[in-house]
Amino acid sequence: MAQSEWTCSLSSVHEWESPDYEPSLPVSEKSNPLTRDIDRASASRIVRMLQACDAQMFQEESGATYQRLLSEQVVATLMEVAQKVEIILKDPRDSLVVLSGCGTSGRLAFLITSAFNRALQELSQRSLYSYIIAGGDRALLSSQEAPEDDPKLGMLSLKKVCEGKKRVLFIGISCGLSAPFVAGQLELCLQHPEVYTPVLVGFNPPHQARNEPIPGCTFTFRSVVQRMQELAKSHKAFLINPAVGPEAVSGSSRMKGGSATKILLEVVLSAAHAAAFTNTPVTYKGILQHMRAYEKTLDITYAQKEGISALLEAAGQSLQRGRRVCYLGWGSLATLGLIDASECIPTFGADYEDVRGFISGGYRALNNNEGPLGPDFCIAHEDFLHLVLPSLDDRDVVLLLYTQSDDVSDVEKMALRVREKTSNLHAVCHRVEGDTAADDDINKLCSSSLKINWPPPASGSLLHMWELSTKLLLNSLSTGAHVLKGKIYQNHMMDVQVTNSKLYCRATRLLQKLSGCPEIQCEEALLKAVYRVDELTVDITSSDIITHTHTARNRTKVVPLALVCLLTGCSLMEAETHLQQQPIVREAVEACLA
Ligand code: F6P
Repeated sequence: MAQSEWTCSLSSVHEWESPDYEPSLPVSEKSNPLTRDIDRASASRIVRMLQACDAQMFQEESGATYQRLLSEQVVATLMEVAQKVEIILKDPRDSLVVLSGCGTSGRLAFLITSAFNRALQELSQRSLYSYIIAGGDRALLSSQEAPEDDPKLGMLSLKKVCEGKKRVLFIGISCGLSAPFVAGQLELCLQHPEVYTPVLVGFNPPHQARNEPIPGCTFTFRSVVQRMQELAKSHKAFLINPAVGPEAVSGSSRMKGGSATKILLEVVLSAAHAAAFTNTPVTYKGILQHMRAYEKTLDITYAQKEGISALLEAAGQSLQRGRRVCYLGWGSLATLGLIDASECIPTFGADYEDVRGFISGGYRALNNNEGPLGPDFCIAHEDFLHLVLPSLDDRDVVLLLYTQSDDVSDVEKMALRVREKTSNLHAVCHRVEGDTAADDDINKLCSSSLKINWPPPASGSLLHMWELSTKLLLNSLSTGAHVLKGKIYQNHMMDVQVTNSKLYCRATRLLQKLSGCPEIQCEEALLKAVYRVDELTVDITSSDIITHTHTARNRTKVVPLALVCLLTGCSLMEAETHLQQQPIVREAVEACLA
């Protein structure tokens, strides 16, 4: 890196921490100075930017403003929560540990509870962990944004899962400290302290928790957090909320938010299991060491920068040509593929077919609460072979995701089948240093193979590290590919779906930022684009946000249309024609700005 680029990146690494930097926004919604021009970057520069953003997760506390992942207070709280889990593990009668969240936060709740229930099963213990995801299991594989706004639904789903339980440790995950669904669940916990101990995981300081009124409720997310802060003093509630820096694509909490959630909760639950089953007490040093092992995972993953860039380039080309990217995975890496693919729809306005994931063993292997989710959600490798493979050609990317512990002969069989249709076949394989897995034949079939060799971790489980590494890699790949496709403007997702109140507010803010027009005018333009009218009726202006976001479910290009109207003063129909002529949103916006 040139000296000037290095100096500049060093200052921009910390720029977001300044009180003057986008002061009205919580950290989780700020734009990251490191990625300001990600939309013009090459594949390899995109990967470097994402690496720098991810590294912010582990930066040390640099002032009083923000707690960080490795801050003393955070580590101390992790210890306390681990000890709570340990107590339950030692006497699990009538008890439950529930992890809950919306979107990616709920998907990670699923991934983590599945892993730790499996660990219990291996010890012949019964399951103790349950997950809740807003919108039910369909939300594991698709975007169900509206239930995120429903605190009552959150409460009901928690009550249902906990029926008959006398002791529940509830872990609510909301990266932005913002989801009403989770606020409702925490409120329920606060109302019934005899049963529930609430834990909140998120990545903003308490004063940045969302404070908008929630329709039909007397509480806001912030007021719930404030009550939890009070209870935290007597160790009856716990807040785990380090800042990890703004996301590479503003507000895209699936990235660092998701990774940090996985790290924190795995650290807590692993420590609890070690304490309960191998007599290894929960210690400050142990927790810190485990966190450092995850930091190392970032280094090991991004040491493969060149390979990741090549993958990103290939995936970007496919998407630019209107073709597809398919992840074929084994074990929990496949689950991460399913998760990453499902997130492309709401994050980038992608088509269901653009990026898809498939898992060996289908729903049996996924082992979700509701089992098979019907013909709209086909996820098995057999489904891939029947429904997708026949239409593939060299323009489509297929990525195999596996580890040395998976059935390598099955991986090879799949590779052979895929090669009949496309040579654009790639692989990511995790293995322990020195392992000599017999997968040379797979390598020969692939146009690129990323073999990641892992030293035994100083702490924690290798599979957890492989999972995080895969998550980082897939997030880079899908984000980078959509950046190359022109979906991002500066570091903002332009074509954001306006399907819940958080996204509605984000869209209005984005319009303000890019058009320079006042908030009221931007909201009007947004509503015109949602309802597809040039004049707003009283019916529209008197409706609430729920009605607006409900209507927006069936609309595309809402924000780009509103922006073109704001910038040019044209009608909606003219804006639509403009966007049809210039489907790359970034270029359409630039043309208007020019
Ligand atoms: O509403 C969509 C979304 O932003 C998802 O992308 C995200 O995973 C989910 O909300 C949950 O956000 P949070 O964890 O901040 O509650």
